Amino acid sequence: MQGGRGAIEIQVDLPEDGALAGMAEVVREGLSCPFKEIPPKYFYDERGSELYERITELPEYYPYRCERQILDARAAEIVAAARPRTLIELGSGAASKSRVLLDAMSEIGTLETYVPVDISEEITRRAASELVDEYPGLDVRGIVCDYETHLERIPRPEGALIAFLGGTIGNFRPAARRSFLARIATLMYPGDRFLLGTDLVKDRATVEAAYNDSAGVTAEFNKNVLAVLNRELGADFDLDAFEHVAFWDPENEWIDIRLRALAEQFVDLTTLDMRAHFARNEEMRTEISTKFTRERIESSYADAGLELLEWWLDDAGLYALSLARPLAQ
Ligand code: TRP
Repeated sequence: MQGGRGAIEIQVDLPEDGALAGMAEVVREGLSCPFKEIPPKYFYDERGSELYERITELPEYYPYRCERQILDARAAEIVAAARPRTLIELGSGAASKSRVLLDAMSEIGTLETYVPVDISEEITRRAASELVDEYPGLDVRGIVCDYETHLERIPRPEGALIAFLGGTIGNFRPAARRSFLARIATLMYPGDRFLLGTDLVKDRATVEAAYNDSAGVTAEFNKNVLAVLNRELGADFDLDAFEHVAFWDPENEWIDIRLRALAEQFVDLTTLDMRAHFARNEEMRTEISTKFTRERIESSYADAGLELLEWWLDDAGLYALSLARPLAQ
């Protein structure tokens, strides 16, 4: 890596009508089903991202701190064997965790390029300009896109560490998770490594508390998705007419996150030319957050064409980071 200020190149790969393209149809379908559902990607507008940041600081929300602790403890080991020159991060956001990995790569002298992948152009640009100042010679080649749809468009120089942190893989349905991991495996060069953050199956009380904090931040975050629909689809959801619900589903091993209508009501969505009916106590799903075991991750990797190399836990054993490589073809 040369000294001096590296280059920034941000490719915006969003549909013509913006990040929210396709939202109308997805929401129409979700609200037309007998069991209503809104996809989680609409949580993260500016207010939503702010509330999520606050969630990461809650005493009950252990996943963020646990992941951070493992990263701090293991960053050197994560980069030692494969000596990656590029860090590709899916859902990079403000890149606060990326710095731990960038530091470790810089320490061993391999760091060349950072590829942040995120849906928010503003956050990606801000992080990029901070990082080229903090890491002399670092090139940032970011891509603003929905990484689930556009995974194959992400620049992928050989010798990369691909990081997917925050437990976000748990927000995918099993089928989507399988295909996402398989697509990642297909994209990897033999020397590349995949770093995955996963929350673990544990006692019900601990995991339910993480999604039902006493300060009510999670409830506010969950309801914020209704404000997004109001703004983007000309809807008239009354946020006070819904309550936050989050419970452990032992069969699926996920936290099921919903909004429950406190009274019977109709909601108009002008853009969709649609009126949705909610019965009293009707619940609409907004998110699932799957928790894993080592066995399940190992077999998910194997199904996807990946091989588990390392499995690291935080001190309390609540959360795991794992490192994988593509199986030889
Ligand atoms: N990926 C985070 C998780 O599954 C997102 C999250 C945290 C979340 N708290 C939430 C999503 C509450 C919806 C509602 O832990």
